[in-house]
Amino acid sequence: MSIAVKPLSPAFVAEVTGLDLRESLTGAAVAAVEDAINQYGVLVFPGQLIDDAQQMEFSRRFGALETTVKLYRKDFVPRLDPHVSDISNLDENNRVRAKDDRLRLNGLGNRLWHSDSSFKRVPARFSLLSARTVPSEGGETQFADMRAAWDALEERKKAFLDGLICEHTQLFSRAKIGFTDWSEEERVRMAPVPQLMVRTHPGSGRKSLYLSSHAGRIRGMEEPEARMLLMDLIEFATEPRFVHTHRWTVGDLVMWDNRCTMHRAREYDETRVRDLHRTTVSDGVPTVAELAA
Ligand code: OGA
Ligand code: MN
Repeated sequence: MSIAVKPLSPAFVAEVTGLDLRESLTGAAVAAVEDAINQYGVLVFPGQLIDDAQQMEFSRRFGALETTVKLYRKDFVPRLDPHVSDISNLDENNRVRAKDDRLRLNGLGNRLWHSDSSFKRVPARFSLLSARTVPSEGGETQFADMRAAWDALEERKKAFLDGLICEHTQLFSRAKIGFTDWSEEERVRMAPVPQLMVRTHPGSGRKSLYLSSHAGRIRGMEEPEARMLLMDLIEFATEPRFVHTHRWTVGDLVMWDNRCTMHRAREYDETRVRDLHRTTVSDGVPTVAELAA
């Protein structure tokens, strides 16, 4: 088998075939995947019926994994390994969560455009999402190309944005959907973190907007002005010309680069099971360190 990379959308999304992710990959195969993700922001690996251990092993070839955020209450019983995010509508007994379930309501925030873990000082580099059970309709994931969005900005806008520092927290994104059910301890732990608004993608040398619904303030700017700027930018950067929609099939593994893309989940009939497992490769250093570099 040899690896083949076929564009699904020019310079943004590609399909990768010729690898079996149940097996340990050669260094050359890992390098080929790295080259592909540096060129494209999103890679789709169809037909990969992997388990969590295989997913973790493949993901670790690209760097250290994040552990899931322990923001949850003491009574939270995880369904999966701490290195695997549970992107499902199931509880610890594999039953569909109730309408008013707190984790379900919090999880609805994934339907806002975001970049994973931008609310952490050291955010996510790659996310790898594996489809285990999917509904027959709906529940797509959409991706937006933040390098293309940057390229399309007017020069005047680019000069204004470059160097700005935003503050990100899940408190901002969840407040947008009216989710405010946090304990005092959780609020303290979710203090905003600084992130660059404009990043240079090391693998391609291209500049990119670094946006996320977790962003709610910009240093040196009044809050309403910052909020409006962020809303306008997200609206611009998610115009259809920058967006690709992925319709899930069981066995799909989708890998994306959070440094230069945003994504969001789409609505589906939540009486059906939707079970996806995510591993997340940490970016290693805070984005603001790029300013010093
Ligand atoms: C994620 C995420 C979107 C979806 O896994 O990080 O935002 O479609 N998922 O479930
Ligand atoms: Mn996400």
